[in-house]
Formats: sequence, C-alpha cells, structure tokens
Amino acid sequence: MKRKVTVVGGAGNVGATVARSIAEKELADVVVIDIADQKAAGIALDMYETCPILGSDSRIIGGSDWEAAAGSDIVVITSGKPRKPGMSRDDLVRDNFAIMQSIAPLVVKHCPDSIVIPVANPLDAMAQALYRLTKFPRERIIGMAGVLDSARMSTFIAMELNVSVENVHSFVLGGHGDTMVPLPRYSTVAGIPITELLSKEQIDAIAVRTANGGAEITKLVGTSAWYAPGAAAAQMVEAILKDKKKILPCSVFLQGEYGVRDLFVGVPVKLGARGVEQIIEITLSPEENAALQKSAASVKELVDVIGV
Ligand code: 2OP
Repeated sequence: MKRKVTVVGGAGNVGATVARSIAEKELADVVVIDIADQKAAGIALDMYETCPILGSDSRIIGGSDWEAAAGSDIVVITSGKPRKPGMSRDDLVRDNFAIMQSIAPLVVKHCPDSIVIPVANPLDAMAQALYRLTKFPRERIIGMAGVLDSARMSTFIAMELNVSVENVHSFVLGGHGDTMVPLPRYSTVAGIPITELLSKEQIDAIAVRTANGGAEITKLVGTSAWYAPGAAAAQMVEAILKDKKKILPCSVFLQGEYGVRDLFVGVPVKLGARGVEQIIEITLSPEENAALQKSAASVKELVDVIGV
C-alpha cells in the first residue's frame, strides 16, 4: 500500500527539503501544504518532475487545501517563523505557538490517525503545544531535534579526527536550545568512545559548537538552516514508515522517565510503525543528569509562557 506523508509549511526551505528527501528515497507520496498556495503547487510540481530522473514513483502534489492531506500516515510540521541572526530559538515562542494553534485542528480533522513530527522552534515547546492541541497519544507526537543536533556533533567529530562520518555515532539529549546536552561518553567512533580519542579541550569545543550549531548557520546564511533539519526529519519518517525500530534521539513527552514529568525533552527512543515504541533510559553521571535537568527546566519555562 502506498503511504502518504504531508509536509506542512512545505513551500519553505525546511519543508521542501523534507519533501524532496522523502520522494528521493521513494518512501511515500508527498503532499506539500502551505498557505502560499501557488508556491506550494509549483514546488511540488518541480519536485515531481525530478522523479523520472531519480527513478522514484513517489507522487507529489502541493497547495493549501487540506483535503489532499486526508488520511496521511505522517504529518511533518515545518511551518513557523525562522530565526534571524542574533535571535535565539526561544524568541519565536509566541508567534510560532499561534501558527501551531491554526494547524492543529486541521491535523486532527484530516489526519486523525497520523504520527506528527514537529520541526518548528522552539522545538520542544512547539511539540508540547501540538500534543496538547491535538490530544494525540504521546507515541504519535515526536519532535525533530536530537537527530539534527547529533548529526552536527558527528560532523564536527569526523572533521576533528579526519574519519568517515559513517564511523561516528553521537548522542545529544535535552531540549533543542543552548542548554542541550552532548554526551561524549556515549559518542563513539567505530565503537570507541570519543573520550579515548580526543582531549577534554577538543571535546568541550565540539560540545559548544554543537549547541551553537543552529546559530552558526543562521549567522552565515541570514536565516535558519534547512538541509540538515530537513534530512533529519526525513530520517525519522523513514524509520517510522519502514518500521525500522531505529533508536534516535527525539523530543518526546516524558512521564517520569529521566526524572522528568509532563514535558517534551530530547531522549533516545525507538522509532517504528507505531511511532515512539520505547523510551530508552540510559544511566547518566551526576553531572550529565544535572545538565539534563537544567535543560528540561529551560523547556518548562517556555511551555509556561504559552501555558501548554
Ligand atoms: C537549527 O538548529 C533550525 O533549530 C534549527 O538549525
């Protein structure tokens, strides 16, 4: 059976990258929804026209009409204001919450059985907003952040050691903000913890660069990143549609795991056909746990601002 993925805000940079990536991997048919109706139709058509070249039979349509999204297996929500240089992700909280308030009822109406992947910032607070607004079970709201942050960390480790990125596995937990928690002990190169391969100074520099990864791109480009965020969301879509049982760091609603209750925070989860199939609890050192709790507290401050 052909699967269907809707990308909301699909005419924007991140949304279009997600849509294209899904079509390129022939994971599903793709619906590009955007309030910019004509642009969405045009972007979808342009992407569809790449499919004969790519050898993909994904069908891609675009517009502002949610009827086309009906029955989607997954809805990726990329709508939202992007960051400008100097802004933090948290500066967007009120504006992007208003956008989530307009989208959530449409998801509930047209895609009631879908798994939702929020991408807009501030990520954990927007995921929590969508969880409250849709009232979907927690297994079906899975925020994209940890995959992106871990990919950035892996890139920096590979650069530093001059090794293949394929050898590197990185783990970043916590909220998708300045307080995110890169975990060097659980980050490996060909199975070897990076603590065996890099000095403390090198690891600290990589951790800082990872936490500032979004700001680094925003400063260079003038707006938020899109290639890596788009690829990260597409990897989550693939894990779910192929029922891969892949363990990836994602922002999910914790109910006591890691000592955090009623809050979206990034932790390792198993992604499969049912969405979040397991939350993996790993042992943290007192310092790592303190950093995770601090990160959770900063997410809590934001969700309190919008009361979700
Ligand atoms: C980033 O970190 C957009 O939050 C996203 O680049």
